[in-house]
Amino acid sequence: MSNITAAITAVGAYVPDYVLTNKILETMVDTNDDWITTRTGIKERRILKEEGKGTSFLAIQAAKDLLSKTGLDPKEIELVIVATATPDMKAAGTAAYTATNIGATNAFAFDLEAACSSFLYGMSVAARYIESGKYKKVLLIGADKNSSMINYDDRATCIIFGDGGGAVLFEPSQDGFGLQDEYLRSDGIGREFLHAQYGGSSYPITKEAFEDGKHYVFQDGKTVFKNAVFNMADVTVKILKRNNLEKEDVAWLAAHQANKRIIDATANRIGLESEKVMMNIHKYGNTTSATLPLLLHDYESKLKKGDNIIFAAFGGGFTWGSIYFKWAYNS
Ligand code: UT7
Repeated sequence: MSNITAAITAVGAYVPDYVLTNKILETMVDTNDDWITTRTGIKERRILKEEGKGTSFLAIQAAKDLLSKTGLDPKEIELVIVATATPDMKAAGTAAYTATNIGATNAFAFDLEAACSSFLYGMSVAARYIESGKYKKVLLIGADKNSSMINYDDRATCIIFGDGGGAVLFEPSQDGFGLQDEYLRSDGIGREFLHAQYGGSSYPITKEAFEDGKHYVFQDGKTVFKNAVFNMADVTVKILKRNNLEKEDVAWLAAHQANKRIIDATANRIGLESEKVMMNIHKYGNTTSATLPLLLHDYESKLKKGDNIIFAAFGGGFTWGSIYFKWAYNS
């Protein structure tokens, strides 16, 4: 077993300028600010409007933010992983395009797709490369242009999702910082309840499917909600128990931002005070693969070297899990 652990040593982020508020949504579908706020905690979300700009644009901006903050030469990056559920194109990796556009010309790059758990799973993958001892700089980006697959006539989904990107750099730690333990799960039964049916290989897009809007995201919100509440809390309890952690040992809960009620339920299950629960869902909604790095970006100045962070996510597939992580630096 290697004594190298995989630490996060830098964070960057990007959200588009356009702000889609609950008030604007009131003019688009039969909904209201009060319903959205009390049911989800969301007040506004960012949307990438410019034609021809896809997820890679969000990923590139987030990565450039990290590079400009750190002064890192992108040629030193050996691997770029883009965690995303909304790749730019089929049959052409978003990560390869992103890597080239940030100047990471010595890196290889691939996409990782696990719906809302993409970034969490990406942390596990990035850590394995670092722990192997062969790789010293792995850039993990979580980015999604959810607006590309949302029907803005469907109030069940359009109020939830937003666009954004976040990037973190993984480097080896000799002092035990970084990823400590992980508990990752999946259950294919879940795709019935959250999917975009047409446009993939099972059901290539047809004129009729397009006209019926079957390429848009469909969600049975209640079923997803129940599964998310149960499973996210369950894996959080498991990872604490397995590592003999009491709630006093936890500095932060960084949970996927899908619904404030799901995050609160997870925090309540372990008795964690609300001040320790990272929250930015009110600003960005559910940005799928970008929620966790956007949290790290927004809370970076509050994080202290040695802080124990519990990451948790639940999403389509179903996919879910938790990661116990030791923060490596003061900013
Ligand atoms: O990140 C990936 C995983 N995704 C999630 O974790 C999302 C999980 N699901 C949820 O967050 C929630 O289920 C939603 C926010 C999507 C919906 O909240 P809910 O409390 O489960 O509402 P519901 O679907 O049970 O609907 C309750 C009522 C219904 O009306 P009736 O039948 O009680 O008269 C809906 O038609 O609210 C109505 N409704 C709305 N009303 C105003 C549904 N959507 C809206 C809306 N505005 N946007």
